[in-house]
Amino acid sequence: MRRTIVVIVGIAVVGFIVLQVLPVGNWIPRLRYPGNPPAGQAVQWDSAETESIVRRACYDCHSHETEWPWYSSIAPVSWLVFYDINGGRAEVNFSDMQPDEAEDLAEDIEDVISDGEMPLPIYLLMHSDARLTDAEKQTLIGGAARTFGATDHEDRSDADD
Ligand code: HEC
Repeated sequence: MRRTIVVIVGIAVVGFIVLQVLPVGNWIPRLRYPGNPPAGQAVQWDSAETESIVRRACYDCHSHETEWPWYSSIAPVSWLVFYDINGGRAEVNFSDMQPDEAEDLAEDIEDVISDGEMPLPIYLLMHSDARLTDAEKQTLIGGAARTFGATDHEDRSDADD
């Protein structure tokens, strides 16, 4: 009995170590460690108030100023973190934004905030400080409209939901 427990614990420990050194990022690019590369064309926010809200709730996944929690270096949780950050930056990157990418952004931000899609719910489990009050959501939506141009409510033909 004792021996069985020792064997099981041994396998678990070896398995855990193998996970740490497995080069998954080479096989699946979205699981690669994204790091914090130097910023390109960073967004100039309309106000310090908007900026402080997005920095608090969005910058970990949508900028090159990610603050890496301790568990982001431990597989397999690290894969989940890298997956969301690579995916988030690919969609919207406040540290590197070309003018044409900003075109529909005010509308997209309004949509994801009013639908409660962002910040990702799984992120809020570990970052309760990123939870936005209704007033902060309105400030963010208004600030995004001033920063990226007003929302064009007539042209919603490309909205997919
Ligand atoms: C934990 C990481 C994470 C956080 C925090 C986060 N996002 Fe995202 N965001 C993502 C990912 C991942 C995607 C891509 C979603 C997909 O591929 O389905 C995304 C996509 C988006 C999109 C594009 C969605 C679309 O349908 O066009 C917008 C806009 C967006 N996020 C805004 C925000 C805003 C605003 C905040 C802060 C209030 C925020 N996100 C916080 C990870 C995050």
